[in-house]
Amino acid sequence: MASVLVLYAHPAPHKSRINRRLAAAAREVKGVTFRDLYELYPDFLIDVEEEQKLLKEHDVIVLQHPFYWYSAPSLVKEYLDLVLTYGWAYGEGGTALQGKIMLQAISAGGSEEVYCSQGRNRFTIRQLLAPFDQTAFLCGMRYLAPHIVYSANNLADAAGIQPLAQRYARLLAALRDETLPLELAASAEKINDLIPA
Ligand SMILES: Cc1cc2nc3c(=O)[nH]c(=O)nc-3n(C[C@H](O)[C@H](O)[C@H](O)COP(=O)(O)O)c2cc1C
Repeated sequence: MASVLVLYAHPAPHKSRINRRLAAAAREVKGVTFRDLYELYPDFLIDVEEEQKLLKEHDVIVLQHPFYWYSAPSLVKEYLDLVLTYGWAYGEGGTALQGKIMLQAISAGGSEEVYCSQGRNRFTIRQLLAPFDQTAFLCGMRYLAPHIVYSANNLADAAGIQPLAQRYARLLAALRDETLPLELAASAEKINDLIPA
């Protein structure tokens, strides 16, 4: 069994429709450590030692957040800037994260159709997440395809979102149970289709 750490980052959780339901589902999955970064660090004063300890203790790191300006909300960037230090996460002696798995669970306002070379956003979400992919690579982690909820603002409330939250919970359980086909999960555009029914 793998230990799974979900780092949840939503700057306006009270306004969230999608992520708060996915977060609630994630909290219920046995063996998953759930951390709400904006709740823990509303002033951006991240406890680097504590976060490094938690990263070290887990095998799978999930960054869960809405897609903001083709990237993550700013606390995620601050987290990576402060926590992934030279000599710890990368560089000489920086081996703390080697062999771990990292992926993102994203919700996007845009539809799947607009995220392609012919579409309005020109790139796929996986392509736009290249800096995260490369960050994981530099730290010796295996980066898997993201879990994506497209058209996030058009989904009907509970009825439309609840099945997605349940599917996300199944993804976390499969990561915990190490039942996902990792080769496929690493090369796919999105991990959604690999989640067991
Ligand atoms: C500041 C900001 C930036 C956003 N940037 C993007 C974006 O680049 N691409 C996109 O598809 N949606 C974008 N959106 C829409 C959000 O991704 C969408 O509202 C969110 O995923 C819905 O999830 P929630 O209900 O948990 O808030 C943005 C929203 C905000 C507020």
